[in-house]
Amino acid sequence: MNFVKVAEIQEFTAVAKKKVEVNGIEILLVRKKDVYYAVSNRCPHMGGSLYDGKIEGDAVFCPKHGSGFNLKTGEVVEQGKLLFIKVKVNQITTFPVKIEGNEIFIGIESKK
Ligand code: FES
Repeated sequence: MNFVKVAEIQEFTAVAKKKVEVNGIEILLVRKKDVYYAVSNRCPHMGGSLYDGKIEGDAVFCPKHGSGFNLKTGEVVEQGKLLFIKVKVNQITTFPVKIEGNEIFIGIESKK
């Protein structure tokens, strides 16, 4: 696993989330109290940007059709709706976050 620096802690004094890109992967970095979570930014349903969604409790909700994902585990906590039909959606990828001093790193599997 390769840890890549993506942000500094002071960036989160005014905001609770940031969108970063590592190795071509868009990642949503979220601060909840003093814990940081990193998840894939693309909703697996139709690619909605979770950065633009709302965060409630431990979950982020897709702005397109409302599917909700646990920030810690990536599991689906709510299936969104397209018209009146519930959408089928898979869980999102989560990434480990490491803090060193003021720097925030995200762990990415190295390509073989
Ligand atoms: S694109 Fe996210 S729920 Fe449809």
